[in-house]
Amino acid sequence: MTIVNEYRPVEIYFGEGAVKKAGEVGRRFGFKALIVTGRKSTKVSGALDKLTKSLDEHGIRYVIYDEITPNPTDKQVNKGADIAVREKVDFIIGIGGGSVLDAAKAISIVSSNEGYAWDYVRYPEGSRLIPYLNRPVITIPTTAGTGSEVNRYSVLTNPMTKEKMVISHSLNYPKVALVDPELTYTMSPELTAITGFDALMHALESLTNKRENFIAEEYAIKAAELIAKWLPVAYEEPENKKARRYMSYAAMLAGIAIDHLGVALIHAMEHPVSGHYPDVAHAEGLSALSTYITAFNYKGNPEKYALFAKLMGEEEKPHRAVDALVKFIERFNLPKTLEELGVEKEKLERLAEDVYMCGRTAFAVNPVEVDMDAVYELYERAYEGKL
Ligand SMILES: [Fe+2]
Repeated sequence: MTIVNEYRPVEIYFGEGAVKKAGEVGRRFGFKALIVTGRKSTKVSGALDKLTKSLDEHGIRYVIYDEITPNPTDKQVNKGADIAVREKVDFIIGIGGGSVLDAAKAISIVSSNEGYAWDYVRYPEGSRLIPYLNRPVITIPTTAGTGSEVNRYSVLTNPMTKEKMVISHSLNYPKVALVDPELTYTMSPELTAITGFDALMHALESLTNKRENFIAEEYAIKAAELIAKWLPVAYEEPENKKARRYMSYAAMLAGIAIDHLGVALIHAMEHPVSGHYPDVAHAEGLSALSTYITAFNYKGNPEKYALFAKLMGEEEKPHRAVDALVKFIERFNLPKTLEELGVEKEKLERLAEDVYMCGRTAFAVNPVEVDMDAVYELYERAYEGKL
């Protein structure tokens, strides 16, 4: 029996209204915060107001850095780190989607150590610098997908090289996650489906890859089951409390599952897509690749793919996992091919090279053996829509 480990250095407050805890929790870390967020949605939705109200009530001063975009860049993190140092903030609060949370955690690392964001990303050979300090981070997700609120990952893009890489370190954990399903009520059906699909891919890839950890697998199983049941409801009824609550919960569980088990080829092949095409959302890339890669992968772990199919409401057979994804993507009108996303055919070779340069650690854990030819062929299939 494999020895498994469940270590969660992140304190979690989960439930409607959890954002109101920000002031009380923040006081443990000091009197001045850097609020990291995006340009618009948290202001329009009122989420940012709820946060600042809570901080005001507890006498916490704050500086707002609102320049984080989807597929956040190393430069955005470096700028945030400069502000954190200059303003002498005691702690950092990320409020927004996965990009914002990833950036907030990385700002904590960069503002507390030497070097720049790109020194801390994990190439297959390792990172250039290892952090040894961080500032406390509070994560407040406003989508239900990424799971970044509870894990050690920050995915960043270098717009110069188009590389998209991950900071993965125990100092990159947030200290506290305030998971408030009410903050997700204002997501459009499209954004609900896209972010929910990311969570589903976290569940699928952590469950089926070669790593083993039965505790974390339970999280992935529960997440897939909840997403299959409640994403359709959240999509149809944006203010359905139960559906939003279960989706926030599922995304969090899947975020813990990947913290232990990691992902596999779908994520490894997606990163170069949104790295080269920053207008493509992470989960749109996942959607366009997922069926082809699952058709390639299911034989490597038939038992788990059959289980996934069952959780998705299909017959408990490994190849049914592909059918389940095809139907799911159809139902939510998610992208089916790379061509649809504006990827150019001439770029496929470069994307495959980037998988090798940046993401080949996923090869070792993928359910079936992968080489560069297989990666290229899968990109071609995903481009042409050939299942
Ligand atoms: Fe993801």
